[in-house]
Amino acid sequence: MRVVVSIGGSILTDREMYGAYARVLRGLAEEHELFVVVGGGAVARQYIGCARSFGASEGVCDELGIAITRLNAMVLISALGDAAYPHPPTSYAEAREASLLGRIVVMGGVSAGYTTDAVAAILADYVGADLLVCLTATDGVYTKDPERYADAEHIEHLTPAQLVSIVSNLGMEAGAKSPFDLVAAKVVQRSGIRLIITSGKSPENLERAIEGERCGTLVEDGS
Ligand code: UTP
Repeated sequence: MRVVVSIGGSILTDREMYGAYARVLRGLAEEHELFVVVGGGAVARQYIGCARSFGASEGVCDELGIAITRLNAMVLISALGDAAYPHPPTSYAEAREASLLGRIVVMGGVSAGYTTDAVAAILADYVGADLLVCLTATDGVYTKDPERYADAEHIEHLTPAQLVSIVSNLGMEAGAKSPFDLVAAKVVQRSGIRLIITSGKSPENLERAIEGERCGTLVEDGS
């Protein structure tokens, strides 16, 4: 299968997690063609917050976020060694070309105005992926923010239109927190990409998602 994986920056927080993901990705790459998009997490938000406090525009803050995601991508590339294409592509066309060498392609952000979830969705559409897996801090999509509301309910299946409706009420400013961004949801809706949103805290969830085991939230038409 051709699979695009989005790993939130809130997941890749230390050497252990980079190492654990590198092991799982190397194993999966024996059978699957993999593209990985890495987020910026708390470090990106820290840089964005600092620049914004000096009056930086949203576009400048986005550029800072993109820079951090690329740094994180470079760390994952180091952890993957020869299994990875040696540098993070800066465009979708470059990512496709890089994949032709048969290595895992790891990249960060591309352009201002969205997050790496959107990059992963656009890339999945661009390369004709069979599956998009989004690994986040929560185990899928909830009816409302589970950190703030005790009665938030986990959703197992969503149509792309339902996903768009849920995330359309969330903020879009640089560094905003959400389980999936609106641009990403719209791209999934437009392209009909099969999407699984699940917890990235355990790298084995990526294996489960690719092997078709039930985990997180499945976004698919007719589901
Ligand atoms: P992330 O993709 O890390 O945002 O990009 P996130 O959803 O907060 O992800 P986690 O916490 O890592 O899961 C960080 C910021 O970088 C900018 C945006 O400002 C985003 O909020 N960014 C990133 C872009 O503007 N364009 C991109 O292509 C990627």
